[in-house]
Amino acid sequence: MSKLNTPFQLPNGSLLKNRIAKSAMSENLSNKDHSPSKEIIQAYRTWAKGGAGLLITGNVMIDSKALGEPRNVVVEDRKHFDKLVEWASVIKDTRAHMWPQLNHPGRQAMGSINKVVVGPSAVPLKIKGGSMMFKTPKPLEESEILDIIERFGNTALIMKDAGFTGVQIHGAHGYLVSQFLSPRTNIRTDKWGGSLENRARFALEVYRNIRQKVGADYPIGIKINSADFQRGGFTEEESMEVVKILSSEGIDLIEISGGTYEKASMMGASKKQSTIEREAYFLDYIEKARKITDKPLLLTGGFRTVSVMEKALADNNLDIVGMARPFTLYPDLPNAIFEKRMTNITLPSLTTGIKAIDKMGFLELMWHEMQIKRLGEGKAPDPKMGAFKVIARNIRVTLSKAIGG
Ligand SMILES: Cc1cc2nc3c(=O)[nH]c(=O)nc-3n(C[C@H](O)[C@H](O)[C@H](O)COP(=O)(O)O)c2cc1C
Repeated sequence: MSKLNTPFQLPNGSLLKNRIAKSAMSENLSNKDHSPSKEIIQAYRTWAKGGAGLLITGNVMIDSKALGEPRNVVVEDRKHFDKLVEWASVIKDTRAHMWPQLNHPGRQAMGSINKVVVGPSAVPLKIKGGSMMFKTPKPLEESEILDIIERFGNTALIMKDAGFTGVQIHGAHGYLVSQFLSPRTNIRTDKWGGSLENRARFALEVYRNIRQKVGADYPIGIKINSADFQRGGFTEEESMEVVKILSSEGIDLIEISGGTYEKASMMGASKKQSTIEREAYFLDYIEKARKITDKPLLLTGGFRTVSVMEKALADNNLDIVGMARPFTLYPDLPNAIFEKRMTNITLPSLTTGIKAIDKMGFLELMWHEMQIKRLGEGKAPDPKMGAFKVIARNIRVTLSKAIGG
């Protein structure tokens, strides 16, 4: 009996029709004014029909002064409210839920597209061959921290009013919330840094601000790192403490991932043999997390075999299976699984053949973003798409943004 295809109720009462979530993937496909484009809306229309219980959008930025990528959707006011309503309306008649992922990139913001880059502390990113794309962040003043917290709440409320059925805070992968959590990137000595309690304050206040604006019944989730997997970074023990804190505050769904731009563990970088055998990258962690929280758990990263997903659910290690990359090549993935058309997901392994480029790790992201673009244009995915085509397009988009196009 498939547990993947059974409903699941979140603490707030929202009913997910099954246990498959499409995890966040930055589409990098907004209009020039950062409103959702017709391509983004079309991609989600396709995914909504594909059968997932929960669709989490790519990161939606809460501040137009802080972009992760040139074509992020930004929601900071109601200027493009009609387009947000249109975006949210794709789930109509599908019983799918759709949550925007709210994000501030902090220091993981390309220098060419942001006048000023901010972070908890002036600790620059170090990426092999890629550091020059990023500026050393300006440490945030307390008033700026409070402004960003307020912005998260503001964006959440706009999205709720537009018809999205919940929100997710991006607290993972080395973006601002995650930068505050990590002692590598947060070396502040005020109440926002130092002890874990202080480093977790930002995440907590973001959650509280959103909760206060959207009300008790509206689902709020967070994606957090099981660890940064870097010396001196956010550890597994600390992550568990944050899970406890957020659980006691009433979070509705906790998605587990891991890594940062400096160490891309979320994409399966440097997997241990034991992890390869278990397929999902953070299963060990989630088994432990299960014991310290009664909140629903969503695990993302590496799931490719239906029997492995079913086992993780049957073992009661988690409540929802999250997948990202498989959705760009197989937009109807949940239906394909439920109709037994798919038991195993295969994705191409990508390389340019040039080690320095491959090591930077962006190829994989760009390749999947291009597949999303195809979905948005109503085209079928192209599993054979070449690496160089992908890189050329991304250079074009970044340059056009940098010179005001
Ligand atoms: C193109 C692309 C964009 C991504 N953008 C985001 C994002 O905006 N927010 C996020 O939390 N994770 C993002 N991720 C990471 C995925 O959500 C996921 O954690 C990761 O791909 C591992 O899951 P998978 O093995 O099922 O792909 C992105 C991944 C890809 C491939």
